[in-house]
Amino acid sequence: MDTLEVALGARSYPIHIGAGLIGDRELVGKTITAEQVLIVTDTTVAPLYLDALQRSLAERTCRTHVLAEGEQHKTLATLAEIVDTLVAENFHRDACIVALGGGVVGDIAGFTAACYQRGIDFVQVPTTLLAQVDSSVGGKTAVNHPRAKNMIGAFYQPTAVIADIGTLTTLPPRELAAGLAEVVKYGLILDAKFFGWLEDHVEALLALDADALGHVVRRSCELKAMIVAEDERERGRRALLNLGHTFGHALESLGGYGRWLHGEAVAIGTVLAACTSVELGKLTVSDAERIEALLDRFGLPTRANGLSERAILEAMAIDKKATAAGLNLVLLDAIGTGIIEAAPPDELLLSVLADLAAN
Ligand SMILES: NC(=O)c1ccc[n+]([C@@H]2O[C@H](COP(=O)([O-])OP(=O)(O)OC[C@H]3O[C@@H](n4cnc5c(N)ncnc54)[C@H](O)[C@@H]3O)[C@@H](O)[C@H]2O)c1
Repeated sequence: MDTLEVALGARSYPIHIGAGLIGDRELVGKTITAEQVLIVTDTTVAPLYLDALQRSLAERTCRTHVLAEGEQHKTLATLAEIVDTLVAENFHRDACIVALGGGVVGDIAGFTAACYQRGIDFVQVPTTLLAQVDSSVGGKTAVNHPRAKNMIGAFYQPTAVIADIGTLTTLPPRELAAGLAEVVKYGLILDAKFFGWLEDHVEALLALDADALGHVVRRSCELKAMIVAEDERERGRRALLNLGHTFGHALESLGGYGRWLHGEAVAIGTVLAACTSVELGKLTVSDAERIEALLDRFGLPTRANGLSERAILEAMAIDKKATAAGLNLVLLDAIGTGIIEAAPPDELLLSVLADLAAN
């Protein structure tokens, strides 16, 4: 097992990474110390990993709240149902919520923990690649508004993350690929060497090679922990992590949160960001081609066929990364060097979108 730290002073917390951690009673027991524990999970993950986690928490008062699976349930109504469970079970301020599942479970459970009695502890036990490399680390919690993603939420850090890479063996290939889109993002914004490593390990990753997956989770968490420690509330550099996300969130919302998985929308958004960077003379055409080729080899979509460029642009303006001063975009100066810039004129964006999204 590897343990990294997210360094946030008194709110610092460990990220434990390894295979079989959910069943490790000693680790789970000393990481989750509360007497009352509510495990929040979903209908897909519960039959796979709930038993093992409950066994590791055997001596606690342990309750479970199982959510219907899927992004469309990441709503205030779902949060209210979890609060109903907490109240009905008489959960106190020193209780702990454990999020067992992907990013949807983690985001809802984390936001519920932030709200319940003005904040109780929560521990992330991510079971998708996307959640292990990204959403479980850094304390962004939220639910969606029908018109815009993650519109209602809080910065609220977990007290620990237990990333059991053994859980990735049951992940459907499409979900694995969606997580790899966020992994590619780290290479693109911060670490050209890691991007090159990914190009060399596509087959190993798609074959769920444990060493390759372990490296990907570790390196991604290291990079995310570094950025979060520097800029917890996204006043500056943390916004780099949004590469592809302003485009991607617009696509997710236009697709009714059903057409593309989050990571798939981010993959298309990353290609759009790369093409915009090329149009602005920042990135070379050959680097943009390398980016698209890697995403494609991971089996990710790189085009948003059938959408109007104007609809995408309008949806981008609603994204919460827009400020009163206008929209900022994460672009690339090179592979490994992300930059945050004011969005270029609409005409330029519309022409990139017309080339890539609307055909
Ligand atoms: N908070 C953040 O910083 C942050 C960062 C990135 C993404 N997100 C959010 O994360 C969400 C996407 O997360 P996700 O991709 O994990 O989606 P998800 O939580 O919907 O999980 C994907 C699917 O995989 C299933 N699943 C989970 N673990 C499994 C396993 N081990 N084996 C088999 N099936 C399994 C789930 O039931 C679900 O059907 C989005 O809502 C996105 O906005 C948040």
